[in-house]
Amino acid sequence: MRRFVYCKVVLTTSLVWVLVDVFLLLYFSECNKCDDRKDHSLLPALRAVMSRAHEGPGEMGKAVVIAKDEQEKMKELFKINQFNLMASDMIALNRSLPDVRLDGCKTKVYADDLPNTSIVIVFHNEAWSTLLRTVHSVINRSPRHLLQEILLVDDASERDFLGKKLENYARTLEVRVRVLRMEQRTGLIRARLRGAAATRGQVITFLDAHCECTVGWLEPLLARIKEDRRSVVCPIIDVISDETFEYMAGSDMTYGGFNWKLNFRWYPVPQREMDRRKGDRTLPLRPPHTASLGARAKSSTRTTGDWPRCGWTASKTSSTSYHQIRNVETNQCVDNMGRKENEKVGFFNCHGMGGNQVFSYTADKEIRTDDLCLDVSRPHGPVVMLKCHQMKGNQMFEYDAERLTLLHVNSNQCLDMPTEEDKMVPTLRDCTGSRSQQWFLRNMTLML
Ligand SMILES: *[C@@H]1O[C@H](CO)[C@@H](O)[C@H](O)[C@H]1NC(C)=O
Ligand SMILES: *[C@@H]1O[C@H](CO)[C@@H](O)[C@H](O)[C@H]1NC(C)=O
Ligand SMILES: *[C@@H]1O[C@H](CO)[C@@H](O)[C@H](O)[C@H]1NC(C)=O
Repeated sequence: MRRFVYCKVVLTTSLVWVLVDVFLLLYFSECNKCDDRKDHSLLPALRAVMSRAHEGPGEMGKAVVIAKDEQEKMKELFKINQFNLMASDMIALNRSLPDVRLDGCKTKVYADDLPNTSIVIVFHNEAWSTLLRTVHSVINRSPRHLLQEILLVDDASERDFLGKKLENYARTLEVRVRVLRMEQRTGLIRARLRGAAATRGQVITFLDAHCECTVGWLEPLLARIKEDRRSVVCPIIDVISDETFEYMAGSDMTYGGFNWKLNFRWYPVPQREMDRRKGDRTLPLRPPHTASLGARAKSSTRTTGDWPRCGWTASKTSSTSYHQIRNVETNQCVDNMGRKENEKVGFFNCHGMGGNQVFSYTADKEIRTDDLCLDVSRPHGPVVMLKCHQMKGNQMFEYDAERLTLLHVNSNQCLDMPTEEDKMVPTLRDCTGSRSQQWFLRNMTLML
């Protein structure tokens, strides 16, 4: 009797497995071709089910390839937004993306009571698919309780589908998405401020209108702001190819920032930051300037910073300020003249337009332009621009805000106006307190 029960159990379970196998066989028609039964174990089958959702164009961040006979049309469409619109339109608005985080980031646990955020996205004549893919990626990859709302600020677009159609679509989404309209074209900064003024969340996050957020993007940003409300934080910004819409993970060994002409650039992470983080690349970086996507707490003082992926994250910094350096005697300004490393720094009529006449006076007392620092290696020697080394030494200048002098500490000499022979290059002379050794450091405001 007992043996019969065993038999029944064995038979039933076998039958279940046979049915499962048959189901899998039918379901995965590709596998009809497989002749080796071994391949039909459950694990690969499950994997196949899971990856099925990832098979459309661009899924898992893959590149979209346009067929040969569509290439002409593709090129025409490219001109509309300066990216491959045909590829973008082929990709699902909720496409899947790889999890590009460092392993150490995937297991980090964040506080339950992170501040929530309003997302502000400014657009002007943006393509439907890129704009909505941005919105869907935010909705799908942000914990719902952290997402107060999404504000789409229309900087006077002219395309029909960005009008009523967009508002109607926004109403169908499961998160509150509002569309604000600027009456006339005002530019990114004003539109962002307008969006910021309308937010109700505790933190404002600015995103571009053609980006996609990956899993775990938001929590580290908010965690840094929870730690210090004055933080302005910025994630690692990866790249989506404008040709194929492939998602390409960036490096956490670089960080985004602005050079002194305010062009966005990638800089290598300096050794001092590597040292400070003691090899843990999930910790935030603290470079001197900030990128254009990022989050900040409402009504905080403005400080800057920029960080990688999960460390991502944040910090305040900026003992750095940006200046025009004007000589009291001649009323001319220190000017990098667009010259390169190892060349002399210049001296030119002040134009007040920033550009080559913007220098920062750093916490290390360097006078910095982009990644170059004013450097003098011998008394009376020429003032040249060398890669900043943060070791003070030849690159250390002490500004005396009362006497208005810039003392080169190593040589104990003062920065002075140029000599007769070399009218375009500031020089060092023994400090005399003369007007030619006095410099006004006028603060320049950077509009980021
Ligand atoms: C995208 O949405 C469609 C329709 O709701 C759904 O079938 C699909 O699985 C979603 N894709 C991903 C990657 O979530
Ligand atoms: C976000 O925080 C604000 C202010 O504390 C609160 O009124 C709002 O309900 C929160 N939103 C969400 C989605 O929890
Ligand atoms: C210039 O900026 C620095 C740093 O932000 C600040 O400490 C200083 O007071 C400012 N100077 C003037 C004249 O505004």
